[in-house]
Amino acid sequence: MTAELEQVKTDLEKKGYLDLDIDPTLDLFEEIEKLKKEKNAIILAHYYQEPDIQDIADYIGDSLGLSQEAAKTEADIIVFAGVHFMAETAKMLSPQKKVLLPDLKAGCSLADACPAPVFRKFKEKYPDHIVVSYVNTTAEMKTLTDICCTSTNAVQIIESIPKDQPIIFAPDINLGRYLVKKTGRDMVLWNGACMVHEIFSAEKITKLRLRHPDALLIAHPECEAHILDSADFIGSTTGLLNFTKRSEAKTFIVATEAGILHQMEKASPHKTFIPAPPNNTCACNECPHMKRNTLEKLYICMKYEMPEIFLPESVIREGVKSIDRMLEISAKAGL
Ligand code: 13P
Ligand code: SF4
Repeated sequence: MTAELEQVKTDLEKKGYLDLDIDPTLDLFEEIEKLKKEKNAIILAHYYQEPDIQDIADYIGDSLGLSQEAAKTEADIIVFAGVHFMAETAKMLSPQKKVLLPDLKAGCSLADACPAPVFRKFKEKYPDHIVVSYVNTTAEMKTLTDICCTSTNAVQIIESIPKDQPIIFAPDINLGRYLVKKTGRDMVLWNGACMVHEIFSAEKITKLRLRHPDALLIAHPECEAHILDSADFIGSTTGLLNFTKRSEAKTFIVATEAGILHQMEKASPHKTFIPAPPNNTCACNECPHMKRNTLEKLYICMKYEMPEIFLPESVIREGVKSIDRMLEISAKAGL
């Protein structure tokens, strides 16, 4: 192996991305557009990406929309501006395509909270239960899952399961509790949480509402119950965005990752969006995993077609079944 290749391998293993210098005079927007055309590549970005990445993306969406897009694209290369489980899901849905992720270390605290070997043992205690997993899980976890769900379709997925069929729901306990309340199903819940959505301060939100009495509190179902209980609207990222477009309210306190504000402000420039405050002084309502991707890393990843997502064939074959079931139920429900 040449010294150069050795360096590339070490960088990817240690840092998760290719740490190369870029000519600072380059117009990265222009260069990325050129690479898209040259390579027949599509950029799929989640709403939590930084605004520059959202602006250069071909499709911006929530986890369900991104999976649907990954399943139907005719591009040769999918560049996933999101986190690792999302890029894995795209690879499982389009295994013949090259799927790139600008930084392999862009993980997810929910996916980390549910290691497949530990879950496998847990599942053995409930042989009669079927497993519904939030899509924020590793590919290996998807091989242990009967049906995946996202926050957009979770209620419909649970309701599609016969009432006498017991269910394990993993890994998000907050979404799980919300679903138990919403559907009346008594599910066994795995105890995982999103590090961003469990940080909001109910006390600071209350004070904010006193200062903005007309503001509506809108929250993602990954938030804790005491936040959801006081929310005026609960929904996935797309659900929250659409609500702000159609609502007559002028001010919104937004309890989810702050990246979504970019699309909310673009869609409704005359409305005010206030990120819900975390219970400490850091910018904890920014997902550190999502924010590992930068425009520079996106450019380098497209130029060198690295880092790429690879999965064992057996994991793709077994894991994709749970995603396909989710997409089928979503299509039937018109989602
Ligand atoms: P949705 O965009 O599907 O609502 O999910 C939010 C999220 O946390 C993605 O990691
Ligand atoms: Fe995972 Fe939470 Fe980040 Fe979404 S916001 S990727 S659930 S850690």
